[in-house]
Amino acid sequence: MEIVQRKTLKPKPAAGTPLGFGKYFTDYMFTMRYEAGKGWHDPKIEPNEPKPFDLATSVLHYAQGIFEGMKAFRQPDGGVCVFRPDENWARMNNSADRMCIPRFPAEVAEEGLEELLRLERDWIPNEPGTALYIRPTIVATRVMLGVHASTEYLFFIILSPVGSYYAHGLEPTKLIVEDFYSRSSLGGTGEAKCLGNYAASMKAGELAEEKGFDQVLWLDAAEKKYVEEVGSMNMFFVFDGEVATPALVGSILPGITRKSCLQILRDRGFCVSERRIPIEEVISAAKDGRLKEAFGTGTAAVISPVGLIRYRGEDFPICGGKMGEITKMLYDTVTGIQYGTAPDGYGWRKRVL
Ligand code: COI
Repeated sequence: MEIVQRKTLKPKPAAGTPLGFGKYFTDYMFTMRYEAGKGWHDPKIEPNEPKPFDLATSVLHYAQGIFEGMKAFRQPDGGVCVFRPDENWARMNNSADRMCIPRFPAEVAEEGLEELLRLERDWIPNEPGTALYIRPTIVATRVMLGVHASTEYLFFIILSPVGSYYAHGLEPTKLIVEDFYSRSSLGGTGEAKCLGNYAASMKAGELAEEKGFDQVLWLDAAEKKYVEEVGSMNMFFVFDGEVATPALVGSILPGITRKSCLQILRDRGFCVSERRIPIEEVISAAKDGRLKEAFGTGTAAVISPVGLIRYRGEDFPICGGKMGEITKMLYDTVTGIQYGTAPDGYGWRKRVL
């Protein structure tokens, strides 16, 4: 694969610097381009530098673009593993179908990612709870204002050393149920990881933050009755004798951490359901003590305990505002596999270095 070298490398964050999420970016990126009639072509690694672009570039106007979130983890022997990358490439191609973006060859993306990680290995942080976040993205690059699928695209992968997604780390998050705005509706783009879903979520997110909440808990758009997801996480609720997560009805992102947790829970004999979960059921279980734990799952968020839900102006603490036992078991199991400190009976860890 062609590698275009940089003249100078960026300074890396010093060991111990709080990395936060998505604030630092490495020296290089992987790119490939698509043109109608030519297909995906010209895969290469080039300097990650600001790019000039035409202000009529279609993604800037109509948000025809998709992305993924993956992580590379430093292993105890100094090597590096990526968690279930094949799942991300498959989901990205599903998002591509929904957004009229031509499917890309996953094997070329994987080869580009691995080459990029080899080149950027010194950027992969070592401190507990840190990782190198991988952001593959495809954007429509045709310069035109007609509302049609573009005939040109740029695929790129950028890398960012990260710590915890939430500023308060593993402290349980506070969620506010949103019963006015919607994130997505049936037949919409909720199950695709597309740019517009995130833009649509920002208004409610901002209002939630003003009130001191970390995130919004979205309900279904039609009835405002069923729990959907958090936007950066899928949701799980531990009721008496049942671990439940909203079913993938089409408006919810099919999370890879969600899928991994479902498998771990089933293999350990928990009674697990993927079903529609009325918010009223969550609230009445929180009131009478049947809601034992709640947590979110996601690549960036990992497994995040939820310590409080506000619904219609009332606050409902969960698990005494602490991380519950099942949440902790999942956190330890998933991160053990990711960081190579526990056996990986599932084959989810892909060794890249
Ligand atoms: C991820 O978990 O990787 C996400 O993409 C969620 C968010 C940071 C946009």
